[in-house]
Amino acid sequence: MWPQQASGQPVGLVLEEGEFDPNLPSLLCLHGSGGRAREFGPLLRGLAGRCNPAALDLPGHGDTPGPGCQRVEDYAAWLAAYLEAGAVRPVLLGHSLGGAIGLTLALQRPELLRGLILEGSGARLRVMPAILEGLAQDFASTVKLVASAVMAPEAPQDLKAKFEQDLGRTSPQVILGDFTACDRFDLMERLGQVALPCLVLVGDQDRLTPLKYGRFLAEGIPGANLLVIEGAGHMLHWEKPEQTGQIVASFLAQLAG
Ligand code: COA
Repeated sequence: MWPQQASGQPVGLVLEEGEFDPNLPSLLCLHGSGGRAREFGPLLRGLAGRCNPAALDLPGHGDTPGPGCQRVEDYAAWLAAYLEAGAVRPVLLGHSLGGAIGLTLALQRPELLRGLILEGSGARLRVMPAILEGLAQDFASTVKLVASAVMAPEAPQDLKAKFEQDLGRTSPQVILGDFTACDRFDLMERLGQVALPCLVLVGDQDRLTPLKYGRFLAEGIPGANLLVIEGAGHMLHWEKPEQTGQIVASFLAQLAG
């Protein structure tokens, strides 16, 4: 069973219908800056029956109360407290900031995880000043700017509009904290110490965490594999949920086999 709290506080958790099957691998998805667990819905639906899929809201996002954090280490400590509240040792799929949190946890508390999937992420995540300064000065326009760059040009317009709408629902302060945490994040020198099975996923059109970042991760993490999804940007689980789901399912099956 997935824990329902972290450090005694409730968490926002999105699950697929059906019983938790202890004989199947478990997958926990963690969103990126300003995101929420619900955005993984299409990916989770495609994985139902093949694993125990779940997605978690970070503090200050979706249905998890509390302020957000401004350091990746603080989010990783919160995630450790969440996993310590139960007995599930999942593969963590971390998107963008979520991947940075996963990498940090993998270095600090590898015993809490079975493996790592890094989707649209990097070992260092410096943020364009236009985003960092823009969020503080003109939130609405900056949300539009991020939304315009987050998916491949060919992604459906309604998907881009939905992204913008969802991002606008998270508090400006929390989003600024998330991007600040990304900007401070740097594990480029420590990838060789990651001792978990790892898969790196990147869209060939990703403008926020470009292919170069994915290559660097896969070259630096011992045994890691890189898969590039064509025609997709930074939001693989939204832009290509079926393809992403197939890749995730194969990785989970490999680990179980
Ligand atoms: N993996 C591999 N290489 C990386 C890297 C990563 N995660 N992060 C940075 N680098 C490389 C850069 O490509 C650059 O290499 P170069 O000198 O050969 O061109 C070098 O390290 C320094 O880059 P960086 O630390 O990012 O500083 P910068 O001043 O060159 O660039 C930005 C700053 C913000 C313009 C740049 O990081 C960027 O375009 N980021 C992507 C857009 C963004 O805001 N993303 C949000 C992430 S959440």
